[in-house]
Amino acid sequence: MSNPVTRRDFARAVGAAALGASAVSAGCSQPAPPPPAAAPAPATPAPQARTFPQGFLWGTATASYQVEGAVHEDGRGPSIWDTFSHTPGKTVNGATGDVADDHYHRYKQDVQLMKALGVKVYRFSIAWPRVFPTGTGTPNPKGLDFYSRLVDELLANDIQPFATLYHWDLPQALQDKGGWESRDTSTAFADYAGYVAGHLTDRVKHVFTINEFGAFLDVGYRAGVHAPGLKLPPGRFNQARHFAVLGHGLSVQAIRAAAKPGTLVGVAENMTICAPVIESPEHIKAAETATREVNAQYMTVIQEGKYTDAYLKNAGADAPKFTDEDLKIISSPLDFVGVNIYTPIYIRADQSPLGFAVVPHPPSFPHVPSPWLFVGPEALYWGPHHLAKIWNVKDIYITENGCSSSDIPAADGKVYDTDRVMYLRNYLSQLQRATANGVPVRGYFLWSLMDNFEWADGYTNRFGLHYVDYKTQTRTPKLSADFYKEVIAENRVV
Ligand code: FCB
Repeated sequence: MSNPVTRRDFARAVGAAALGASAVSAGCSQPAPPPPAAAPAPATPAPQARTFPQGFLWGTATASYQVEGAVHEDGRGPSIWDTFSHTPGKTVNGATGDVADDHYHRYKQDVQLMKALGVKVYRFSIAWPRVFPTGTGTPNPKGLDFYSRLVDELLANDIQPFATLYHWDLPQALQDKGGWESRDTSTAFADYAGYVAGHLTDRVKHVFTINEFGAFLDVGYRAGVHAPGLKLPPGRFNQARHFAVLGHGLSVQAIRAAAKPGTLVGVAENMTICAPVIESPEHIKAAETATREVNAQYMTVIQEGKYTDAYLKNAGADAPKFTDEDLKIISSPLDFVGVNIYTPIYIRADQSPLGFAVVPHPPSFPHVPSPWLFVGPEALYWGPHHLAKIWNVKDIYITENGCSSSDIPAADGKVYDTDRVMYLRNYLSQLQRATANGVPVRGYFLWSLMDNFEWADGYTNRFGLHYVDYKTQTRTPKLSADFYKEVIAENRVV
């Protein structure tokens, strides 16, 4: 009777093989045969393997409400995230961004963290209610001055500032007048964008309009999980989506009108990344078709100046109301496109009219502590690929990528976040595959420089390269910070 081979036996055999012939032979009764004389040494991958293009820009990212704190300081007005996070039951443990990482007071120290990593670029966001406390009207010079000081500090440390104008902290006064359901918010956003551009683009050369339409619209205006916590019916919701992309387009024009020559403008969108289930021509084609359709309401209309027929047909009477002029504004040409990429959906070819189907994740599909963040490294290949192939985008930035982890400090105080390192190594390998194939990705911003206020999850899900002790505001580099530092120094996956 043969002995069944258990999973443990198998692992042991593999482990022994990995130790090499001499270790295996030590316990054997038979002498080991001599190694073949001319056995070639196993090939070691060349150190330049998985290298990124020269001049590739490595960076980190944060956002105002997630790190700044100081919500009542220097004339800042309230934002919808102040209201929302102070409403009982809206965030885990009632967490708010009142203090967050106290970055408003500690930005110089935080710039030193970046410098120690070796990053060349930093993406931060500007809090609209610091600059215009009620969204419109008289600007608050002290608010803008904070960002001016931050920019000076970055430049003095040889780090290029990339500024995002809207990372979800809408002035509460504008929400009180309808928020993104009102066309006036689109124009107010453009006025604010023009004002900031007029004052900072002597030093800030890259400006992003809006961060992640879906995360504040689908999650904030439809699911009610992010500020302002609304559950709009489809018609009103689609109209809010339209006014947000219109605000993007108007702000591109306002920035161009007010900015110093040489200022480059883009968006930071989390378009849904459609990965083919199998990398064969039919599934790849289906994934490309799917990309246009599932992103119809944001990236597609921004790139093409029209909503897809299928989007309008599906929405029916709930489709947004718009003019041809709106579409022209929304698709104002961009200098670059930023995409936040965390996770893919999988697409297969099928016989349906559009020729594709979304393959749902089985319950066993791996994810990090944030339940939405399924681990699919190939997203970092297919995202940029689709932008270049479908819309001929010539300059792409990965404006966010990273993961949460349980992050428990060890006895020596260090966080050994091997899961985050594993995640990053795999994702960056796919990004490298894209750049090696000629996809024009110019830079990568790791989310995030440090642990911070993770929206409705409060402080429970940590995404930082630096561990933040919120009681003392101490920042400690995690293992992933050491890893990223090495990636940057070597300009390759390590
Ligand atoms: C993105 C957000 C960013 C952060 C990461 C984890 O959707 O843009 O602020 O919360 O997720």
